[in-house]
Amino acid sequence: MPWLHGRSGCRALRVLRPSAPCQRPRVDARRAAADEDRGAESPCERDESDESEAYHVPVMLRETVDWLVTDPSGVYADGTLGGGGHTSALLDVVAPAGGVVVGVDRDEEALAQACDRLRAHVDAQSLRPLHTSFRYLPSALAGLELPALSAQRGLSGLMLDLGVSSHQIDADYRGFSFRRDGALDMRMDQTSPGPSAKDFLNACEPAELVRALQDYGEEKYARPIARAILAARPLESTAQLVHAVESVTPEPKRTKTLARVFQALRILVNDELGELEAILLAAADLVRPGGRLAILSYHSLEDRRAKNVMRSGHLDGRLDQDEMGNALSHWRPLTRKPVTATDAEVALNGRARSAKLRVAERTNFDVAPWRGGRAARALSR
Ligand SMILES: C[S@@+](CC[C@H](N)C(=O)[O-])C[C@H]1O[C@@H](n2cnc3c(N)ncnc32)[C@H](O)[C@@H]1O
Repeated sequence: MPWLHGRSGCRALRVLRPSAPCQRPRVDARRAAADEDRGAESPCERDESDESEAYHVPVMLRETVDWLVTDPSGVYADGTLGGGGHTSALLDVVAPAGGVVVGVDRDEEALAQACDRLRAHVDAQSLRPLHTSFRYLPSALAGLELPALSAQRGLSGLMLDLGVSSHQIDADYRGFSFRRDGALDMRMDQTSPGPSAKDFLNACEPAELVRALQDYGEEKYARPIARAILAARPLESTAQLVHAVESVTPEPKRTKTLARVFQALRILVNDELGELEAILLAAADLVRPGGRLAILSYHSLEDRRAKNVMRSGHLDGRLDQDEMGNALSHWRPLTRKPVTATDAEVALNGRARSAKLRVAERTNFDVAPWRGGRAARALSR
């Protein structure tokens, strides 16, 4: 069964038009537990009075916007709109100068809440919300028919804030949290026909489960954990999964082991690494020379891929050079070491502890002189 890697297929894009109805999100106050679900060590605080903040507290907000924006009148894409925190800060800078932000999320609930929060920008078309996966950004941008995008030869900046939002973790019916009993779903896009965690766990071969736990959870005890999970089939709920994992995990290690198992399943169900690799490779065709790519990642599997592509243009980090030793790469890294959150931010938001921000600038390499590269040609079609 092809559970691991290689799932493909472009679903129809749904563009949220101005004045599309937006539902208010269900907001939950359990962010500290969500931090622990992600393996973060300290709880964070929230302001009950601010619903959008409660949905998700954006990480390294100022740093990300400051690194990303070079031309406030440009077109920017936020491939992970979530609660709209980064996009809102981006819009504060670019909207007054005529700039546009394309906000993408594959979670309809996230999109609806961000749309609601940023309604004035949606109506003014300075925010163009899109329901799709960021791997489909090239065709999604082409479908938007944004004249500024062709005129400026591509995006001025593309940002990704990877993983799931606090709201997704907090919502028990989504199945992302080992602290709450809920459906074993874990799909970010609940409209997708794609397999849920339950579908996978009840049908996978033992080797597939072991490999998922090892590759995506970096779990040392993948075999005994997989055996316990398979012995507990059929599985319906997160509580049953937690019980199976705990049955072979001694007490002091339980929280971290559960965090790794849930992370592994979430990455698999959403093909998160495949998504990231696809957009990292497509980004060179989307961003104009001089434009920027900013990636916020939360674990080494993501960060390694972002680092390699920003250094060399390749996922494996192999650097092509000309006879003179000059780098032949679509990207020039601007952050030699990743930017990390300040202690003050980590004290307020435990999720920031593991965050790494990397930024690169699109070089002139491999840009067709008559346009802005392959994607730019696609965009102008
Ligand atoms: C960490 S949250 C982003 C939070 C956001 N920066 C903010 O300030 O509120 C990640 C979001 O990206 C979305 N997401 C993750 N992978 C995606 C993908 N491949 N395509 C589109 N959206 C994705 C998730 O559904 C989630 O809403």
